[in-house]
Amino acid sequence: MITTNKLKQKYIDFFKSKGHAVIEQASLIPENDNTVLFTTAGMHPLIPFLLGQPHPLGKRLVDCQLCVRTTDIDKVGDEVHFSLFEMLGNWSLGDYFKKESIAYSYEFLTSKQWLNLDKSRIAVTVFSGNKDIAKDTSSIDCWLEQGLPIERIAGLEENWWGPAGDCGPCGPDTEVFYWKENSKPVPKLFDPNDKGWVEIWNNVLMEYNKTKDGRFEQLKQKNIDTGLGVERVVMVLNCLDDVFKVEKIKEIYDFIKGLAKDKENERAIKIVTDHLRASVFILADPRAVVPSNTDQGYVLRRFIRRAIRFGRLVGIEGSFCQLVGKKIIELYKEEYPQLEEKKRFVLLELEKEENKFSTALANGLKEFNRISENSRGLSGKDTFLLYQSYGFPIEMIEEIAGERGITIDIDGFRDEEKRHQETSRAGAEQKFKGGLAEHTQITKRYHTATHILNQALRNILSSDIKQKGSNITSERLRFDFNFDRKLNESEIKDIEDEVNRVISLGLPVTRQSMKLEDALKQGAQAEFGSKYPDIVFVYSVGDYSKEICMGPHVENTSELGHFRIVKEESIASGRRRIKAVLEYE
Ligand code: SER
Repeated sequence: MITTNKLKQKYIDFFKSKGHAVIEQASLIPENDNTVLFTTAGMHPLIPFLLGQPHPLGKRLVDCQLCVRTTDIDKVGDEVHFSLFEMLGNWSLGDYFKKESIAYSYEFLTSKQWLNLDKSRIAVTVFSGNKDIAKDTSSIDCWLEQGLPIERIAGLEENWWGPAGDCGPCGPDTEVFYWKENSKPVPKLFDPNDKGWVEIWNNVLMEYNKTKDGRFEQLKQKNIDTGLGVERVVMVLNCLDDVFKVEKIKEIYDFIKGLAKDKENERAIKIVTDHLRASVFILADPRAVVPSNTDQGYVLRRFIRRAIRFGRLVGIEGSFCQLVGKKIIELYKEEYPQLEEKKRFVLLELEKEENKFSTALANGLKEFNRISENSRGLSGKDTFLLYQSYGFPIEMIEEIAGERGITIDIDGFRDEEKRHQETSRAGAEQKFKGGLAEHTQITKRYHTATHILNQALRNILSSDIKQKGSNITSERLRFDFNFDRKLNESEIKDIEDEVNRVISLGLPVTRQSMKLEDALKQGAQAEFGSKYPDIVFVYSVGDYSKEICMGPHVENTSELGHFRIVKEESIASGRRRIKAVLEYE
């Protein structure tokens, strides 16, 4: 058995041997990127660097990143999909390009020294072209050069990655597939739609920038962004045909099966396994959210509630989320110590959500039956009742209706929802429509404003103040710090004035790369509890502030606009939170 850990180690070692530096896992909840609710790929934490900002560790990076993808939620239950999975990635930030990237991938997968996968079971797809961009024939040449036969190379129009918003860096990709069926011979011709083929690796060849007016221009810095699905590769390495048979996932699956009465409904047991695993990792994340009706909290709520519904479907009675949660924590705590550290919180939140929903689910299903008994469809009002009074996520109502062959009046539901002033449900992962470039510009401003605020708090309130958390969206900054009382109005005014004074001074923002210990010696601010690499960037705002930070930042404080604090509140004992905006006339 080749274990998950062994695979990860091999991957990191391989890319280290090719000059790549290892970067830390980022949070599942993106820190300064609100184009998405969750980190859906290793590229999200790296966006500023893909757009050209230098990375302190250089141009070749390698990492392992946990990802959450709600777009695949309906596929969970088959043999290859999860909502939470681990992705190994190697990155070239304007360094090597497709020829080397393809060669590295093929070497790692097939060489005896590394994974030694059977070459005859490998196939690839490349971008087949569209009205804007021609077919990616050079990738075909690169694969042929590696020795892949032409009948194992297929062209697809969908082999295109990004951009996350309407514009930004993007490019064709080339995906590697593996024939996972052990009992069936490998088909002569490669058909990517045949479910026997599983995609294991995606190499994104990021060479274009999509402009606001929809044109594609060549990027100055061509990047490589690859993602290798850890669980899928462990599956094929061990000649398995289902990711739910892989190691720890199988143990969770078997544990849930043990609780179930109907042990034959594999799909339902897989859904419970997947959703509770995702929920535990989201709750244990350093930037954890709790179940709610908005954004990430809503997705988390959907995972837990859907797990409960499918748990009931296979006859699991009584509370079970905590039990499964404990099992998941036990299995993963060595590798992900945050699970043990946050254990109480994770289990408590699972329990609270389960208590809230269990009774409502039973009553709601009765109501569902009653309403739908004599009709082929649910009205907007009925749908809203199930949503509002019984806490059924709308997707769940749609799903149950679909199972019973009845329709729901979704427009009527939306009207009802508006009438009840329900706000900001996260229907899609895509949140910011302005495009990456614009988004990055706004983020930069808030990022620099955060540094100034951090220093202003120390100057005005107390030199002991430390940053305890920060979050930036395109609408505001949020800053958490240690302080034991409410700020009064005149203090808030003083802080605003100080930040605006620094803005109006037009100070340059500069970056230096240095060893972490030197940065700390120089008195650069660091966020308590954050992990930093050995080499870091230190950003200075004139002589006013100095902080360890990955960026990105504006070049001069004069770009920031007018700073205004909109809220100051307590978030825990000895912890305060400020929300502030930058305004332009
Ligand atoms: N961003 C690409 C993906 O998610 C490769 O990492 O597939």
